Amino acid sequence: MKKITVHSPGTVANLVCGFDILGLALKEPYDIMEVTLTDQPGIIIHNRDEYNLPTDPDKNVAGVVFKVALEQAGSSQGFEVVMEKRIKPGSGIGSSAASAAGAAVAANHLLGNIFSRDELVQLAMHGEKLAAGVKHADNIAPCILGGISLIRSIHPLDILSIPAPDLWVTVVHPQVEVRTSDARQILRQQVLLKDAIRQWGNIAGLVTGFFTNDLQLIGRSLEDVIIEPVRSILIPGFDEVKTTCLAAGALGGGISGSGPSIFMLSEHQHTAQKVEAAMQAVYERLGIAYHTYVTTISKTGVTIIE
Ligand code: HSE
Repeated sequence: MKKITVHSPGTVANLVCGFDILGLALKEPYDIMEVTLTDQPGIIIHNRDEYNLPTDPDKNVAGVVFKVALEQAGSSQGFEVVMEKRIKPGSGIGSSAASAAGAAVAANHLLGNIFSRDELVQLAMHGEKLAAGVKHADNIAPCILGGISLIRSIHPLDILSIPAPDLWVTVVHPQVEVRTSDARQILRQQVLLKDAIRQWGNIAGLVTGFFTNDLQLIGRSLEDVIIEPVRSILIPGFDEVKTTCLAAGALGGGISGSGPSIFMLSEHQHTAQKVEAAMQAVYERLGIAYHTYVTTISKTGVTIIE
């Protein structure tokens, strides 16, 4: 029996203007998964956290990925998994992606590294589909690869790694429920050409800023005229968080994934801490429970610890 532990990080999808096409990996928080390849067929899941996620492999994001991995490998073996989720489900920082990507990387390692990078992403997307109802890779790709990922296309899969500047990331998770499936359903299916043009400019500016380490360009490109105006209504205090964080010195930021978490990028740790205090002040005043993280961009993604 072979056993490994993986650390699977949280991720910030969309990066404000890049709906479904940009994402970055966080250094913290991360899930811990202990995975054993067993001679018995089937998937056994144990939860070592408070979230009571389903242990039926067909209803569990990681379970689905382990199952597809075994099928694709033509293996008659099984997996026993202990899941310790530290990324709260429904937080908007890629909790389901961490389960899916962690499962894909663990299964691949234990089955003898049979999957390519793109096959790993495809494998993990089976789990994301169970969670969100659609396959999107903007959490999965950075979770597996680390740093910043650009999903140029899903069909066919075309993923590019973008250089990640040494920036600080502050995240606040107000404890309100926003389901990714709901947050996708409320989006308009058509956009105005003038909005599309502004968004294209921002995406191109953001990617250029990452390549050239131009922090001011990154900051002014963190603008979303299509998704944020609709989704921000679901997040109490959103506008105030944004205004006060920018005043505290953040380069920019917005909704993390489909929310309710909000993230901000800063050049220095002390600014990121001031931004955290600004976020805390808003939710203290609103009387909404919250959790904050001050962290950096993880350059590594899912890590295997033998
Ligand atoms: N791109 C996805 C969305 C990410 O915004 O719906 C969900 O975490």
